Amino acid sequence: MTILSTENLLAGYDGAAVLHGVNIEIKEGEMVALIGRNGVGKTTFVKSVTRLISDTHGNINFNGTNISNWSIHKVARAGIRLVPENRGIFPKLTVYENLEVSCLYAQNINKSEIKNIFRLFPRLEERKNLAAGLMSGGEQQMLSIGRALLARPKLLLVDEFSEGLQPSITKEIADVLRETNQQEGLPILLVEQNANLALKMTTRAYIMVKGQIIHTGSSEELLKNDQILKENLVI
Ligand SMILES: Nc1ncnc2c1ncn2[C@@H]1O[C@H](COP(=O)(O)OP(=O)(O)OP(=O)(O)O)[C@@H](O)[C@H]1O
Ligand SMILES: [Mg+2]
Repeated sequence: MTILSTENLLAGYDGAAVLHGVNIEIKEGEMVALIGRNGVGKTTFVKSVTRLISDTHGNINFNGTNISNWSIHKVARAGIRLVPENRGIFPKLTVYENLEVSCLYAQNINKSEIKNIFRLFPRLEERKNLAAGLMSGGEQQMLSIGRALLARPKLLLVDEFSEGLQPSITKEIADVLRETNQQEGLPILLVEQNANLALKMTTRAYIMVKGQIIHTGSSEELLKNDQILKENLVI
């Protein structure tokens, strides 16, 4: 079954078009990559799906319902969660308070579930009373992902989680995302400039160039035959 599909999605800023008809599909239980260079429109795509950009055309379907005209809050309540590029945490609140805020916003989430996030990311428990802004970039990324997972999403969109992180931290976070996808069947769209990382983590991939999908196919095939990646300067 298809969880998310976009049909001919167009989006931009102040009349300047960025997405020129994007068709992307994510099926039940899939972890899919959206890869592309700097500035091709990857973030614009995830912002359109979560309605942070509302001036869009084309269809966005979630679990069979057209959500193109839904509000940001309605989309979030329906279970689509974005882990944003800038991480979106509250730097002055402690780690624990950041997680508490997620419980307040999400429906039917009890604070007792915070321990599940600490199980996934033990570093967060060790730093639970620390102001989130004082943590390392990797720890802040763990918090951002933890906050999204706490809301028990039905679809997770992760925008460039690996940016600026050292390889060991990237691996730690990648393992949690992979496990959550495999064990709980959470569908994930992994938006990345780091094609190697994204292709190793996913089964299928879309390559975006200048606001259009120029290739879609198996991640394994793309890793084996990287001509398309090289031609489009994705690696
Ligand atoms: N708020 C905005 N107002 C105007 N133009 C914007 C805005 N946000 C992004 N853009 C432009 O839209 C285009 C696509 O940007 P977007 O952030 O979607 O790219 P991206 O693929 O996510 O890039 P990166 O890998 O650097 O994050 C760029 O040319 C960018 O300058
Ligand atoms: Mg981006």
